[in-house]
Amino acid sequence: MGFTMGLNLVLLIAMVATNILSLYHLSSTVQTNKKTPNPPPVPDHLLRQLQSIRATISQLTRLQPSANPSTKATATAIPSDLLLHSRLSPIATACNNHPGLLHRYMNYTPFSMCPHDSDELAESLILRGCHPLPRRRCFSRTPARPTSSLSHNPFLLSLSDQNVLWHKYACKSFNCLIRSNPKLGFDLSVEATRFMTYADELDLPIPQLLQIAKAANSVLRLGLDIGGGTGTFAARMKMYNVTVLTTTMNLGAPYNEATALRGLVPLHVPLQQRLPVFDGVVDLVRCGHAVNRWIPVTVLEFLLFDVDRVLRGGGYLWLDHFFSKGADLEKLYAPLIGKLGYKKVKWATASKSNSKNGDVYLTALLQKPVSR
Ligand SMILES: *[C@@H]1O[C@H](CO)[C@@H](O)[C@H](O)[C@H]1NC(C)=O
Repeated sequence: MGFTMGLNLVLLIAMVATNILSLYHLSSTVQTNKKTPNPPPVPDHLLRQLQSIRATISQLTRLQPSANPSTKATATAIPSDLLLHSRLSPIATACNNHPGLLHRYMNYTPFSMCPHDSDELAESLILRGCHPLPRRRCFSRTPARPTSSLSHNPFLLSLSDQNVLWHKYACKSFNCLIRSNPKLGFDLSVEATRFMTYADELDLPIPQLLQIAKAANSVLRLGLDIGGGTGTFAARMKMYNVTVLTTTMNLGAPYNEATALRGLVPLHVPLQQRLPVFDGVVDLVRCGHAVNRWIPVTVLEFLLFDVDRVLRGGGYLWLDHFFSKGADLEKLYAPLIGKLGYKKVKWATASKSNSKNGDVYLTALLQKPVSR
């Protein structure tokens, strides 16, 4: 809201400044017609101010997301959801673009229970780039009979259904999710082997990752897993005493709840948002499957530079199975990644076996320069 007010103020100033200039212009024209010598010149500082105001406005207008992303999505056959999630969101303007949703979200009775659709609304707004959301004074709903036996072990045999509010999902249990697709990350017996095996050159097992870091005299203590699903990377790293935060959204399933049930920190943060950690504080950032060619290149560039911001000097960026078209990888993505100026510790590509459109995978481990 503060930004919107700021923008309005800028626009107002721009309007006033433009009008003053027109007045100057008009009065000088009138005066010239009357053949008055030496019309008063427009002061330089006013011109400079106007120029910078115009530049700011055109910058803001360019960053403004297009009004209707779904039409663009159908034209290029990109799933509209994916496009939606990866849109570049300039500071809070997205809230203004969705006043209906925001109004519904803020329509509640203070000091009582929050409305039933609260978290769906929140997720919808966040995915549309409206984040952070305004605070509210209502009580969020909790499951009726939660289990008290919460485990420290992130590789439990099963997650407790009782600790999740299921009303907003098609599935009403973790077993249902596992049956619908064992690869979603809810089948913890499947998850138990992830990041530990080496099937081909695209894999980077965690013991090998730790070995590489150790050999380079680089300690891994803190990490960030972008688009980390149910937190399995964080789970495995926890076994090595490395603390990893997982950004994850609840797209059709309770990913945040599952991550938390495993004793790991879920960050409810979409791909297009500035990472909620300070500059230079983490040792490792992993970008999983969620980061791929569906993301518009400009958005990806912002994302990579934000990753650079949070990594400490000497820290690692791990692009894990990044997929794109082969030609794009060569012409677009490799140069984009190259802009970071990181050392290529590992760079492996391979064609995606079941791909109809010539997709390739890239797994890269890159090390940020120790200082710059
Ligand atoms: C993790 O930390 C615990 C407690 O300090 C220690 O006992 C354990 O050996 C550590 N595990 C690894 C893999 O370093």
